[in-house]
Amino acid sequence: MTETGELDSTNTRGAVSVWATAQAAPATQRSGRFHPDSVKHPAKMLPAIAAHAIAGYTRPGDLVMDPMCGIGTTLVEALHLGRRAVGVEYETHWAEIARANTDLAHTAGIDLPAAVYQGDARKLPTLLPDNLRGQVDLVITSPPYGDSTHGQVRTKPGEGVRKTNHRYGAVLDRGNLANVGIGRLLSGFTKILTGAAEYLKPGGHVVITARPWRQHAELIDLPTHIITCATLAGLIPVERCVALLGRLADDDIIARSSFFQRDFIVKNREGGLPVHLIAHEDVIVLQRPEKCSGSRKLKNFQNEPEWSSVPFGPTGARVGSEPGESAA
Ligand SMILES: C[S@@+](CC[C@H](N)C(=O)[O-])C[C@H]1O[C@@H](n2cnc3c(N)ncnc32)[C@H](O)[C@@H]1O
Repeated sequence: MTETGELDSTNTRGAVSVWATAQAAPATQRSGRFHPDSVKHPAKMLPAIAAHAIAGYTRPGDLVMDPMCGIGTTLVEALHLGRRAVGVEYETHWAEIARANTDLAHTAGIDLPAAVYQGDARKLPTLLPDNLRGQVDLVITSPPYGDSTHGQVRTKPGEGVRKTNHRYGAVLDRGNLANVGIGRLLSGFTKILTGAAEYLKPGGHVVITARPWRQHAELIDLPTHIITCATLAGLIPVERCVALLGRLADDDIIARSSFFQRDFIVKNREGGLPVHLIAHEDVIVLQRPEKCSGSRKLKNFQNEPEWSSVPFGPTGARVGSEPGESAA
């Protein structure tokens, strides 16, 4: 890595496909950079994963976009690495927290633009300014993982173990892709990637983190499904990496798993299913083709204004909410 956090192309020592992204505990990684309420989001990306991807696939001054930005981890890390940031989040509450988090980076003296739009990322053109088309260097995101959110665990005398903060928003709101079945999640995510690709520069990268989950005993291989979604969206797979969620020790990986994750493994093993504790995220890296197939798209890229003319300031726009898709 160089001093600015970029991977040095002449030095391949750090350029391995296993990313040591959990050497520090999640709380330590977030310390001082995130609003205290950020902890309540059920499925945050580890800041070190976002930072590693942003450092590897962009340069200072580049524009990073996350169409499902949650509390804005990717946006905050982009700002701290000297990149500009734009995000979209469906839930009003998380969008507000994401703005609070990018505001914190500005308070810390970072003078780079960041904007968070609230709405359904399946309709990006209705949310984002038109002049962002073809301007984004990196799309980095993470879809909801079905039921396997992190949440927090509380134990109270007489109440046993209780899980809290494991929901994104209203359970019946199917505009949030966390609340739909795998088929709708994948078709929705394909729509999001197809829309996001329009905002990427030709040759720009897309980094998606995901992990498999189990529905009863069945393995839902989300990372592999995501490669299919991205290919349908016209993106080209270029890398598949692993971001560790456990700490690398001398000759071991020390898992940083939750009570429920460990409990799930113990119960399955007792039931005869030799499942393993997940200690990593899959990282899928794709690229928008250098040459666009449609002449309309090429024309759009040519006359785009610079970021500086985008009508929102460094503390981010507050646009009206986009009604979610009604429950089907
Ligand atoms: C795995 S979380 C991303 C967390 C984020 N990387 C962070 O660190 O905070 C997925 C996010 O996608 C949001 N989401 C779900 N459906 C969406 C949609 N249709 N449009 C935009 N965001 C959506 C969820 O509310 C959730 O915050």
